[in-house]
Amino acid sequence: MSNVHVVEHPLIAHKLTLIRDKTTGVKEFREAISELAMLLCYEATRDLPLKEIEIETPVSITKAKVISGKKLAVVPILRAGIGMVDGILSLIPAAKVGHIGLYRDPVTTLPVEYYCKLPDDVASREVIILDPMLATGGSAVAAIKMLKDRGVSIIKMMNIIAAPEGVKAVQEAYPDVEIYCAALDERLNDHAYIVPGLGDAGDRLFGTK
Ligand code: PRP
Ligand code: URA
Repeated sequence: MSNVHVVEHPLIAHKLTLIRDKTTGVKEFREAISELAMLLCYEATRDLPLKEIEIETPVSITKAKVISGKKLAVVPILRAGIGMVDGILSLIPAAKVGHIGLYRDPVTTLPVEYYCKLPDDVASREVIILDPMLATGGSAVAAIKMLKDRGVSIIKMMNIIAAPEGVKAVQEAYPDVEIYCAALDERLNDHAYIVPGLGDAGDRLFGTK
């Protein structure tokens, strides 16, 4: 699985346990999702290009590095992706934010599109798609297609938990898209939920069930 980055770190492992635990309440779940997004952001932005500029410290003139290249946009998949936005923006406050609305039809598990609002200049930006769960991969593939159709060329996928089935679906459809996740779980169950997973990410994040 060449373009999948499973980010290993003690803080990530600890926070993952918290969100997997069914007794964790909405407040702690929300905080941990946001913090996990921040930790994954560190890894997903490791390859950002830098350029050298000259600055003056209180002591001397020196050359120092700043981020260059394409500007970033983050695009959460509604609803659950919303929970990851703040964590990313705390590290990249200038990133623009687009929104893609997709839900899985409970019978077919296929994604249904209901909203798309992206920055006007999205085609000139590198985009990180945010969604805590990559299950069948249907939602991810649909979101990537929506962005590619609008001219976006560099896309990364950030998930908290991925299933092998979802990774395979994204890799087959879009081998150029790198996936960053905190865990690659065992499999999907008969209802296309990730095992062991964390249940329904949207419901746990927003307390809707
Ligand atoms: C969840 C999750 C993903 C999708 C993953 O959203 O947040 O978007 O399922 O499943 P897939 O890989 O099989 O497409 P859901 O459809 O439950 O919508 P919600 O966030 O509005 O609850
Ligand atoms: N969507 C979720 O929220 N959880 C899963 O396990 C699969 C899809």
